[in-house]
Amino acid sequence: MAFTMRVPPFPLRDLLPVLFAAVLALGAAEAAKVPAVYVFGDSTADVGNNNYLPGSDAKANFPHNGMDFPYSRPTGRFSNGYNGVDFLAIHMGFRRSPPPFLSIANKTKHPIHRGLIGTNFASGGSGILDSTGRTITLTKQLQYFSTLQSSIVKHIATEPTYHLLSKSIFLISSGGNDIFAFFAKSNAPNKTSGDQFIATLISKYENHIKALYNLGARKFGIVDVPPIGCCPYPRSLNPTGGCLEILNQLSVGFNKAVKLLMHNLSLTLKGMKYSVGSSYEVVSAIIRNPEALGYKEIKTACCGAGKFNGESGCTPNATYCSERHLYLFWDLLHPTHATSKLAGVAIYYGSPQFASPINFKQLVEDQN
Ligand SMILES: *[C@@H]1O[C@H](CO)[C@@H](O)[C@H](O)[C@H]1NC(C)=O
Ligand SMILES: *[C@@H]1O[C@H](CO)[C@@H](O)[C@H](O)[C@H]1NC(C)=O
Ligand SMILES: *[C@@H]1O[C@H](CO)[C@@H](O)[C@H](O)[C@H]1NC(C)=O
Ligand SMILES: *[C@@H]1O[C@H](CO)[C@@H](O)[C@H](O)[C@H]1NC(C)=O
Repeated sequence: MAFTMRVPPFPLRDLLPVLFAAVLALGAAEAAKVPAVYVFGDSTADVGNNNYLPGSDAKANFPHNGMDFPYSRPTGRFSNGYNGVDFLAIHMGFRRSPPPFLSIANKTKHPIHRGLIGTNFASGGSGILDSTGRTITLTKQLQYFSTLQSSIVKHIATEPTYHLLSKSIFLISSGGNDIFAFFAKSNAPNKTSGDQFIATLISKYENHIKALYNLGARKFGIVDVPPIGCCPYPRSLNPTGGCLEILNQLSVGFNKAVKLLMHNLSLTLKGMKYSVGSSYEVVSAIIRNPEALGYKEIKTACCGAGKFNGESGCTPNATYCSERHLYLFWDLLHPTHATSKLAGVAIYYGSPQFASPINFKQLVEDQN
């Protein structure tokens, strides 16, 4: 494995203190700061659940994915190395993301069934709505968690289970695929239809979060939707090669509503804590100021084919770049290991621009 600690110049004033904190923290190998982390969402968080779905084409368990992962191993992550969830888990003191639920689903003697480590339920292609994608919906991911929760209760009894879950972190990274799906089926979304769609999405998100709360979740780390209109795939659809602004506007609208939703929920759900981490702000900061943050290429994907390498996925026959740490995007829709690393730092240690109302570190360390 060839990860070098990349320390680019950081003239962005707000990212500077963040990085000092991160460098100090990374220097000290520590034990996990929370009992467990449970992960839900889409391909930005999937670490291999989709490997277990026969017939699904939303997979990444083949080269060149994983070429910078330890032992150059494709795991199902949509990345050349780690994804954002891996880095968030590392900051919380774990080795990387907990394993995919489906890899241990039938191994009921596995430590995960006793509530140790945590579990990753995320599935590439899924969304907040049941109608988005043909993989493991968020509803289904929550059903899997509910099954697991019962299994933990069986092993350590009810009260310790609720105590464990109340101290654990529940990470959710979803919404982008719903926006893509809405865009694909409404040929010209306007302000009214866009707002209506976001309201539907948020109301469904609210149900998911309440369901997790009822199962014992208290600490929520929500990751928002990046400016998805700037991914290589949407760019390849745009005759000008620019970002597809309508997708970015929908992302902004969704992200604003998510913050409001979480704030509202924290007022009514007793003991609920949260942070909304902004992948939108991180990716926007990189696009605004690429050289300053150490990037050489922010439009074209490292791996893929066609315009911006954004017309098809990172398959074994696709071409890939050598300077992967200088690219914002790994494939047509997903960030590189380097970008995920930067996002992990900004969301974990960052100012309110990158995580609010508190950052993930404060969420993790909250003892009340
Ligand atoms: C678990 O076992 C059931 C029943 O044998 C099977 O249908 C399912 O595919 C298995 N799941 C995994 C992820 O192996
Ligand atoms: C917006 O789009 C919806 C759905 O396509 C359509 O029914 C509605 O008439 C449009 N409204 C305006 C103001 O264009
Ligand atoms: C949050 O609460 C305010 C005030 O009650 C309400 O107007 C708004 O619609 C709510 N928003 C969400 C997303 O829950
Ligand atoms: C690679 O193979 C896939 C499936 O066979 C095909 O759809 C795709 O166009 C090919 N890509 C390149 C870059 O040749």
